[in-house]
Amino acid sequence: MNSPETGSASSPGGGSVEGEPVLRLSGVGKSFNGVTVLDDVSLEVPRGRFVALTGPSGAGKSTLLRLANGMHLPDRGTVSTLGEDPAACSRSRLRALRARVGFVFQQFGLVGRLSAMENVLMGALATLRLPRYGVMSYPRALRVRAVEQLDRVGLADQRFQRCDTLSGGQQQRVAVARTLLQSPELILADEPVASLDPAASVLVLDTLKRISTEDGISVLCSLHQVELALTTADQIVALRDGHLILNEPATTLTPARLHEIYTPTGEADA
Ligand SMILES: Nc1ncnc2c1ncn2[C@@H]1O[C@H](COP(=O)(O)OP(=O)(O)O)[C@@H](O)[C@H]1O
Ligand SMILES: [Mg+2]
Repeated sequence: MNSPETGSASSPGGGSVEGEPVLRLSGVGKSFNGVTVLDDVSLEVPRGRFVALTGPSGAGKSTLLRLANGMHLPDRGTVSTLGEDPAACSRSRLRALRARVGFVFQQFGLVGRLSAMENVLMGALATLRLPRYGVMSYPRALRVRAVEQLDRVGLADQRFQRCDTLSGGQQQRVAVARTLLQSPELILADEPVASLDPAASVLVLDTLKRISTEDGISVLCSLHQVELALTTADQIVALRDGHLILNEPATTLTPARLHEIYTPTGEADA
């Protein structure tokens, strides 16, 4: 019934089609100053899935996440994010693509002297014309949505608190709420719990997982704690020295096997 011209299977933002992976890397290579950082990496993130990207420090996780939103472009191979190739996008199209992709950073990326509420509202800045000063300068409908998202991460009561007085785990949940205000289709999270204690890490990841399930948001989240990857993710990917060495559903993996993958051949366990 639906002719291709109606675009009924596409999202409003652009090229993504129902059933298509939200992210696809095909034979991707990336080097910096002649040093190969990613080598022939192929990977798909299916729609609605929570994929953990694991691997030791320096494996290429951040580089892969940056390739996914066009902060880096590949030297070889292709990237397709929500049906768009960042390398072929004009600046305005890349901006439109990035508005559909949330990014959560290890160091939260919040403005410490501003309240939780104002930081969340900043997630909508890409859609607003003018710079804003203070919570009341944002449209009422957005303020309502900001409180709703803070409530979903368990921080509605802290909305007027300065972010630099919140705990690390609370700050990261504010950052998640800020990303949600953008209504992203895909969230890229770069070691979002690396600076947090174990209890806060579990709470942040559980929150991200619950909301991604509720809203059907796909997540690609780098983690270096393999146990957290196993308990949170639907699918586990591992990188080592720029090579993709594992891509499996979490249900078929055991912690022992995952640890084995991390121990380089010939190296005894400490
Ligand atoms: N912009 C850059 N310029 C030069 N080298 C880089 C750059 N970004 C990353 N690298 C190098 O690429 C390798 C992989 O880095 P990265 O993707 O940050 O790994 P991970 O996130 O897994 O720790 C590292 O050796 C790092 O030094
Ligand atoms: Mg990194």
